[in-house]
Amino acid sequence: GAPVEVDVSKLSPGERVTVEWRGKPIWVIRRTEQNIADLESLNDKLADPQSNAPQQPPYAQNLHRSREDNPEIAVLVGICTHLGCSPTYRPEPGAKDMGGKEWKGGFFCPCHGSKFDLAGRVYAGVPAPTNLVIPPFKFLSDSVVLVG
Ligand code: FES
Repeated sequence: GAPVEVDVSKLSPGERVTVEWRGKPIWVIRRTEQNIADLESLNDKLADPQSNAPQQPPYAQNLHRSREDNPEIAVLVGICTHLGCSPTYRPEPGAKDMGGKEWKGGFFCPCHGSKFDLAGRVYAGVPAPTNLVIPPFKFLSDSVVLVG
């Protein structure tokens, strides 16, 4: 499939758009400063906080799992790494049904209850074995992301 351009200039903080690339849903999210600041505090609750698993692209092997020059933009394949369901976007910190105060926003898979943070990092002890996949992407400019 052809690469897909995404205009991120109109995404407000906390907002997500979904595009399709190679038949897969790709989520593009503009994280808030607080979202990024919260990532480190989640590390001890996660299965692979540094994304060391071999299927991760090198640029995803950092805390925010995005490009160094633009950590607020997250780009993720929106497919659960357990059995392929579509996780729901749960950005609201402190959501009661997501664990209350400890929840800093992320994704919840309704099929078997896997949870991921806003960098797509999987929580420990859930069925999904790995972090959400990061597709190949790069910035063509400050406002345009090329996926693929
Ligand atoms: Fe997502 Fe099983 S498919 S938890």
